[in-house]
Amino acid sequence: MNTWFVAITGASGSVYGLRLVEQLLSAGMGVTLVVTKAGREVMAFETPLALPDAPAAAAASVLRFLELSAHLPLKVVAQDDLFDAAASGSARTEGMIVCPASMGFCGSVAAGLASDLPERAADVMLKERRPLVLVPRETPFSLIHLRNLTMLAEAGAVIVPASPAFYHKPQSIDDLVDFVVGKVLDQIGIEHHLFRRWDE
Ligand SMILES: Cc1cc2nc3c(=O)[nH]c(=O)nc-3n(C[C@H](O)[C@H](O)[C@H](O)COP(=O)(O)O)c2cc1C
Repeated sequence: MNTWFVAITGASGSVYGLRLVEQLLSAGMGVTLVVTKAGREVMAFETPLALPDAPAAAAASVLRFLELSAHLPLKVVAQDDLFDAAASGSARTEGMIVCPASMGFCGSVAAGLASDLPERAADVMLKERRPLVLVPRETPFSLIHLRNLTMLAEAGAVIVPASPAFYHKPQSIDDLVDFVVGKVLDQIGIEHHLFRRWDE
């Protein structure tokens, strides 16, 4: 089974990451999920989901929140678990999506810090030339943010900003979220029906 590594960091918009996890699992993919400490805090602030610390309980909570079967292949890993497969280039992770990606996270990866599991996993994706999709959320961008994002794009990451469009006539917040998540799925070649395409 294809397994994607998803990181939800402490930028605003945890709802994007949760919808992405739901779509990947529904598409028959395996998902390994890490939610950073700040990501958990923002998630608890912005959504009704307060993640328990224990990985198995966190996975069960996410599946319950997404109204998905408890048997789907979702594994939640701790931010400091450098023994997880995603920390090694020899593991068969398909790729990684950071959704949403904080500016702090982007800066750390651009600087090559690899100081915890999500940073190390992103570092691995770049060195192994595997897909790394970053969904930054900040406005306005400082020069430092722009330079870090440029460096990441030069190193092979795809930058998909959390900037929904309006040409598909969104009627709800869900429509706006789905546009961004659909653009992420387009990048990793996963079929979806999250928005109506221009040629449909
Ligand atoms: C409610 C809230 C919203 C935030 N929104 C953003 C944001 O949109 N973009 C961003 O880069 N940081 C945002 N932050 C700050 C990050 O959470 C902070 O920089 C954190 O250290 C990021 O850590 P992480 O990358 O390990 O998750 C927000 C913080 C809070 C509490």
